[in-house]
Parts: sequence; structure tokens; C-alpha cells
Amino acid sequence: MTILTGIQPSGKLHLGNYFGAMRPMISLQEQGEEFFFIADYHALTTVRDPQFLRESVRDVALDFLACGLDPSRTVFYRQSDVPEVQELAWLLSVITPMGLIERCHSYKDKLAHGKPATHGLFTYPVLMAADILLMQAEKVPVGKDQKQHLEVTRDIAIKFNNAYGEIFKIPDALIAENVAVILGTDGQKMSKSYGNTIGLFDDLKRIRKQIMGIKTDCAAVEDPKDPDASSIYGLYKLFATPEEAAAMAARFRAGGMGYGEAKKALFEIYERTFAPFREKRAALEKDPDYVADVLKDGARRARERASDTLHRARAAVGLE
Ligand code: ADP
Ligand code: TRP
Repeated sequence: MTILTGIQPSGKLHLGNYFGAMRPMISLQEQGEEFFFIADYHALTTVRDPQFLRESVRDVALDFLACGLDPSRTVFYRQSDVPEVQELAWLLSVITPMGLIERCHSYKDKLAHGKPATHGLFTYPVLMAADILLMQAEKVPVGKDQKQHLEVTRDIAIKFNNAYGEIFKIPDALIAENVAVILGTDGQKMSKSYGNTIGLFDDLKRIRKQIMGIKTDCAAVEDPKDPDASSIYGLYKLFATPEEAAAMAARFRAGGMGYGEAKKALFEIYERTFAPFREKRAALEKDPDYVADVLKDGARRARERASDTLHRARAAVGLE
């Protein structure tokens, strides 16, 4: 089974990204051939600062490698190192009905959030289809927000295959229904656009401040509290063993534990979990060529698959 997914390098990663995307994606390494890429062509639809883009690519790569992505197993590459994807995007775009793309909500959502209305932002789903079809992916793990893009990818692949023969595999979305939306420090969905995130690799003082700043109700120390209504417990449980989670839930219910103390416990368990990842990240960072070498090797492996698919697609439409 071929699994593929991508993430945009568009800002520092946070705990929502970790539990919602990174951890599930890293655990899929065990289950089949995996392609994972940093979608820098896609990020250009919203990022205008070249230095920020360069740094974000490196940061995302280091974050994933530090958290356990194994580049000897997973083909880990940067999208723009596989330029075949652009040519395939064109071959797909000429058979993609306008109506299919016009129906996508993510374009309208992004305009509503003040992103510039550009051709690239509008045709973003066609490039995403090319990412997926180029590698002949069968399963694509994504968040719920990307479900429509996977439906578009399937429609495009079916249309192409009907016109030119069986060139592409038809991929399925792998939507992690059991991954809850991680809440931020203000109780809304954690998102870099809402300024309510807890970072993954920020400095510890800052993370402590973010955790101590989680909004709570005004229950007194002695009051019994409902753990399931608390975003402190919600995060704690993601880090904890089942026994630790049960013990913390019991302390919430018993009363006598203030929110300050619960936040301290959350900070400690965060630190315990991430200490080895921080160490690994610091070690990887010391070698200035490591990330570049990993991504270069990933691109080489990705391009083998890419050139095979592209060649077949070019021949099918009559370019070869
Ligand atoms: P942001 O909302 O901060 O811009 P992205 O949209 O770039 O984050 O998300 C990257 C990945 O992380 C996606 O797969 C998304 O589903 C996941 N993700 C982001 N925020 C959360 C969250 N609060 N809870 C669960 N998953 C999340
Ligand atoms: N659109 C995805 C996001 O914003 C990133 C992405 C680009 C992607 N190409 C992909 C995800 C291909 C899965 C497969 O999160």
C-alpha cells in the first residue's frame, strides 16, 4: 500500500499539528511505503517572504525528523525538488472542469481570511491532485478540511483514465476520525491563525507561559471539576499513559486541585515527552548539511516514481 501526505511550511508547528497530523503520520511508517513531502509550491500561494519560506522548510523538516520520521523508510522530500509535479498539474488542469474547482470551499475560506485572490490559490487543488497521482498513492491521510480536495483528486483521476486509459491509481482519503480537534489556550481550535497555540519546539519558558495562560472557568481550588470540560485535561490526556490520565481525571473530580496545579502537571508531562525530541533536534541542527542531504536523497527516490508516472501520462496524451 502506498501512503502519501504533505504539509505546508507556513509557520511554526504547534501541539494541534503534532497530535492531529504528525504523530498519526509518523506511526503510519510501519504500515507501508510512505511518501511525505513539504509542500513549498503550495505555501507560495500565501507566503511572500523568501527567507521565511526557506526557514520554514528547514524547521518543518527538523521538527518531523526530531519527532521520529525515519528517512530511510519514508521517502521524505520537498515538493519543489520534484518539478515533474508541475508538468503533471498542467496535464490534469486541461481536463479539469472549471465547475469542479469552483465548488471547492477552501478557496472561498482563504479569501474570507484575507488571502489574495490569485490564480495559484484557485487552482491549488489541481496541484494537490498532481502531488498524489504522480506517486500513485493509494491512501492519503489528511484532516477533515482536505476531504473535498481528495474528492476532486479522485474525480480528476477518473476523468483522465476514462479519456486516456488506466494511468492513475484512484486514491482514498484516510481521515483520522478518532483524532479530536486539539483546543488552543482560548478554548477554540488550536491554529496559528488564532494566536492560541502551544508550540512544539519553542523555548521552554515560552511554552510554560503559553500553558499557564490557558483560559479556565472561575471554579475555586476546592471545587470538584469535570475533566472532560477542561482543555488542560484534554491536552494532558494526549501525553499521558492511560493510568496517568485516569489518576488526573480522578484529581479533577475530587476537588482540592486548582487549575494552576493542573497546568503545572501539563507542563511537566509536555517536557517529559518532548525532552528526547528536543535533544534529537538540537543534535540534528548541529550538522548544517543533514536536512539538505535527507531531502536530496528523498527527492532522488521520489523522482524515480515521478518520472515513470509522468512519462506514461505524457505518452497517453500524445506528447511522446
Ligand atoms: P493551522 O490551523 O495552524 O494553520 P494547518 O492548517 O497548517 O494548521 O494544519 C496542518 C495539519 O495539522 C493538518 O493536517 C491539520 O489537520 C492538523 N491540525 C492543525 N490544527 C489542528 C488542531 N487544532 N487539531 C487537530 N489537528 C490539527
Ligand atoms: N493541502 C494540504 C494542507 O494544506 C497540503 C498538501 C498539499 C497535501 N498537497 C498534498 C496533503 C497532497 C496531502 C496530499 O494541509
